[in-house]
Amino acid sequence: MRRLIRQFVRIETVAVLVTAWLGGALGLGLATGAGAVATVTLMALGPLLGGLLLLIRHSLELASRIGNLAGESVRTLGTVRRVGADTEKQIKQTFRQLEALQNLSAMLPASGVLPATRGWAASPDLLVALVDLVDTERPSLVVECGSGASTLWLALAMRRFETGGRVIALEHDPFFGGKTRDFLARHDVRDLAEVRDAPLESFSLGGGTYSWYARRAWEDLTGIDLLFVDGPPTTTGDQARYPAMPLLSGSLSPVATVVLDDLVVPDMQKVLRLWLDAYPDFGAEMLPLEKQAAVLRRSWPAG
Ligand SMILES: C[S@@+](CC[C@H](N)C(=O)[O-])C[C@H]1O[C@@H](n2cnc3c(N)ncnc32)[C@H](O)[C@@H]1O
Repeated sequence: MRRLIRQFVRIETVAVLVTAWLGGALGLGLATGAGAVATVTLMALGPLLGGLLLLIRHSLELASRIGNLAGESVRTLGTVRRVGADTEKQIKQTFRQLEALQNLSAMLPASGVLPATRGWAASPDLLVALVDLVDTERPSLVVECGSGASTLWLALAMRRFETGGRVIALEHDPFFGGKTRDFLARHDVRDLAEVRDAPLESFSLGGGTYSWYARRAWEDLTGIDLLFVDGPPTTTGDQARYPAMPLLSGSLSPVATVVLDDLVVPDMQKVLRLWLDAYPDFGAEMLPLEKQAAVLRRSWPAG
């Protein structure tokens, strides 16, 4: 019915019908000698009916537009709520990271320009966790997979807490390795941290093939107290960071701590599951940080 009304009740059609009605009523009145009142009444019925039809059509159109508007309002409200929740989350996260940065600068005052954090680099909340590990565990040897901001902050922590230890960062990309070395030089901590150029090479491990840091860059390492796994980038292959444990677990000290970053990435969660399956003597503690991290330690001392 609605469709019929919309299809046939148009202003032009109604105008033609009303004009025809007026002509017909006038003709009928004259032909039958019905008198002026009856003829005019009959003629008036035409415009009235026409107006009523147009009113019904416009009411239907209005109702349909109101219906569409209500649907759009519900969708817009949903979007506004989502954006609002997301913005609130971002603001809270940004505040946490600023708080962490302030924490870092208070603990480890730096005299030069600092590398950017977040994104490709470790987030300030993780850097605070790493610095805290240096403070509480006093590692003699820190090995880092993937150099950058973290290398500098770890070296600054080694200097501040006078651990007598050093940091060795494995870096597959000479460009980023050079940048990290520049930062270490500017902050005068090149004696505490070394960036080793380690182009990726192929390793066959547990039935899979992985690209990982060249053996010559890490095969001499022993007694690693803190292993921070933040490379190679996930773009270099599936479970790109998995080899860290198979290849370096034999070089860990009995009380070693292993930190795995980026657990917001599902691929990294898989790496953690593979490690925990393959190394049942290690347990993991999850750190609820911006990018989520796991801290692994032996549940019982290594034999
Ligand atoms: C997750 S990043 C390592 C970050 C490092 N641990 C830090 O806190 O800055 C892993 C690798 O990504 C590469 N990388 C660093 N910054 C990058 C950038 N802006 N774009 C592309 N690759 C980058 C480097 O080769 C680095 O070893």
